[in-house]
Amino acid sequence: MKQVVCHKDELAPGQMTGAQLGPIRVVVIRAKDGSLHAVAAKCLHQGGPLDQGRIYEHTLSTEDVGQYVMDAEREIIKCPWHGYEYDIRTGATVFDTTRCLQTFATREEGDQITVELELPGTAAASA
Ligand code: FES
Repeated sequence: MKQVVCHKDELAPGQMTGAQLGPIRVVVIRAKDGSLHAVAAKCLHQGGPLDQGRIYEHTLSTEDVGQYVMDAEREIIKCPWHGYEYDIRTGATVFDTTRCLQTFATREEGDQITVELELPGTAAASA
């Protein structure tokens, strides 16, 4: 199942948009490097709407107390309800990488951005 999300020019780096993929709400994110990522928009904590959250670069602490640096390799989406944080590329929570949101294939097709739910047995056909 494939869904058109928006025109490619409507999603600039660092922005996200929600989309309905059949019964599943997803959030499609364009990372700062221009790559596209899509994760389920329902927070693993209590179901908060991640497509209403915010995106920012992950920060890393240094050996100096109170000093942090930006982690350009990792961008985070934060739940608007209680603050759960997820890696936009993997869907994993920051505090426990074994807990992950479902991820979805998303890409530019012509002028459109699409997101796809791969049903069992269809992955090879859509590649
Ligand atoms: S519902 Fe997302 S952090 Fe609680």
